Amino acid sequence: MSNDYLVVRKSQPLRGEARLAGAKNAVLPIMASLILTRGVSRIYNVPCSTDVAQMVDLLIDLGAQITFDRDARELYIDTTSLDRYSVCPKIMGKMRASAVVAGPLLARFGRAEIALPGGCLIGKRPIDIHVKSFRKLGIAVKEEGTYLRVKREGFSKKHASRRVAFEYPSVGATENIMMLATVLPGDTTIINAAMEPEVLDLIDVLQKMGADIEALPGATIRISGVTELRPIEHVVIPDRLEAGSIILAACISGGEVTIPDAIPQHMDLFLDKLAAMGHTIKTGLSDSAWGPRGIRVKACSEPEAVSFKTGPHPGFPTDLQAPMMAVQCVANGTSVIEETVFENRFMHCKELQKMGAQIDVHGNTATVRGVEDLYGAEVIASDIRASCALTLAGLVAIGTSRVTGAHHWQRAYDSLDLKLAALGGDLYLAQPDKQKELLKTVEGIGFPVRA
Ligand code: EPZ
Repeated sequence: MSNDYLVVRKSQPLRGEARLAGAKNAVLPIMASLILTRGVSRIYNVPCSTDVAQMVDLLIDLGAQITFDRDARELYIDTTSLDRYSVCPKIMGKMRASAVVAGPLLARFGRAEIALPGGCLIGKRPIDIHVKSFRKLGIAVKEEGTYLRVKREGFSKKHASRRVAFEYPSVGATENIMMLATVLPGDTTIINAAMEPEVLDLIDVLQKMGADIEALPGATIRISGVTELRPIEHVVIPDRLEAGSIILAACISGGEVTIPDAIPQHMDLFLDKLAAMGHTIKTGLSDSAWGPRGIRVKACSEPEAVSFKTGPHPGFPTDLQAPMMAVQCVANGTSVIEETVFENRFMHCKELQKMGAQIDVHGNTATVRGVEDLYGAEVIASDIRASCALTLAGLVAIGTSRVTGAHHWQRAYDSLDLKLAALGGDLYLAQPDKQKELLKTVEGIGFPVRA
């Protein structure tokens, strides 16, 4: 874990235009889906983040050959020689998202072994829905200690057409079961599936591979098994969570920002809540294959606090709860925020309180009373979206804030600090270990090198 931290100072209103990276929560399952194919696939608009680097390491460990052109944000993944179905526990432990390789490995090899991804600070993150659904599809599942071993043991007729109903629309379970079902004989129908834009981007990829899969009304996904899937080329959808973060940075600082490649219909409720605060939102600045694109936000000078409740898509996204809370901390009035997706996703509250925010937490509800000013402080980011919330708060806090735990920031955001700085934000990512490495390099070879 690095000692990187973000230094954030009170900034002028952020103004200008920003471009989005590809969606982290789309590219990770898409990379996993390439296990279903044999050959070279090309993925474009790939974010440069440590989670993507972890997934690259995981696929290489399974036998894939990968080239990641970081400057072009392009991945070339050859899965021809992929020959392992057991995922190295060290890699699994670093990233929960790796749980979604189980379905594709089962599809390709008839078996998979993954270390249970385990929980994280925002919640226990069980995989019971994945396990129950695998069993419904006739998969033998053994949970041995921290290992999950799954195996296809042949299909009796009773599995020819099956319905898998999720008690909760789990994103990861939807992705795992979809990918497995693409090559299972017969029809599989997933009821109460997750319908996040990132899940739909994965469906788009599976259709390009030749899978017989479609999303139906009422959160239902129908899949008919095929015998073979082929490599693809795909442009990852823009990251709605990065878009939300940049828009909130404009709102909290009283600025005006345009994001030409944002897809407004990925974030209806979020944009409605900003309009209810008094901010001016203009959408559909141009057209694209995904429909109207582009969002322009002009912050109002006296924003009203709004209340909201997170939920599965199209509800308010849980991944924007923390950054949206930061904006409520300096709005007029009181905001009641209910977190219904994860059981412990309020760790950022005590850090925001260190900056002067007035927040009371009772169970999964936080009541935020807007204050005139926040004050710079040394705060700790406990997870990806907390790092964003604390950075946004730092942009308006009087003085300087230091956000430690910036490895979380780097897990999900592709140079978002540089993008916010380009809009006028006074912040930078400090990487003391890298600086030391560079100095060591200079001392080591005795002449100056380009940093
Ligand atoms: C995905 O996680 C995202 N991660 C999360 O983003 C996002 O917050 C989450 O979906 C909800 O939208 C990626 O896509 C890589 P879930 P996932 O399965 O698939 C419970 C971020 O910050 N649950 O929909 O793990 C679970 O504990 C990350 O980018 C079970 O109980 O989410 C949680 O409370 C954080 N049993 C809720 O459902 C299960 O078998 C939602 O989980 C599975 C899930």
